[in-house]
Amino acid sequence: MADMDERLNQWLRDAHAMELQAEHMLNGLAGRIESYPELGTRIDQHIVETQSQKQRLEACLQRRGTSPSGMKDFAGQFTALMQTAGGVLAGDEVVKGLLAGYTFEHMEIGSYRILAAGAEAAGDMETARVCEEICREEEAMASWLLDHCREITQAHLMRHATESETAKR
Ligand SMILES: [Fe+2]
Repeated sequence: MADMDERLNQWLRDAHAMELQAEHMLNGLAGRIESYPELGTRIDQHIVETQSQKQRLEACLQRRGTSPSGMKDFAGQFTALMQTAGGVLAGDEVVKGLLAGYTFEHMEIGSYRILAAGAEAAGDMETARVCEEICREEEAMASWLLDHCREITQAHLMRHATESETAKR
């Protein structure tokens, strides 16, 4: 049982580090997509959700008698993608950001499903409830991105084509 509790604590710390990374990525993205106001609004909304998720995880860790460990614990398997999303010169930041955001949300969904199952097994029903609640917010963000994927991609391509034409004249 002590093993199970320690495992769950580590997963919660990983999720907390993941949210720090998410906040970092979303803030970077928000500053680069002024031409896409609808996406910008949804990202701003998710930044607020992400900050609240971080706080809810901190409360779970505190209740369990432990604390977060900072960003260093994050596995970082998405670092390369995030760096691309933060790229300044590529010219297609919005599309890279869409891909990175959609991918990241699914990692979060997977993490919270696992955490909720783990918390349930450890008998920590409050943590399980919090993780399910956060999971629904990530699912809503992922499905918003999916719903707007075609529109944003095509708007980007059209804008780019128009700008190239203008530049030739
Ligand atoms: Fe999140």
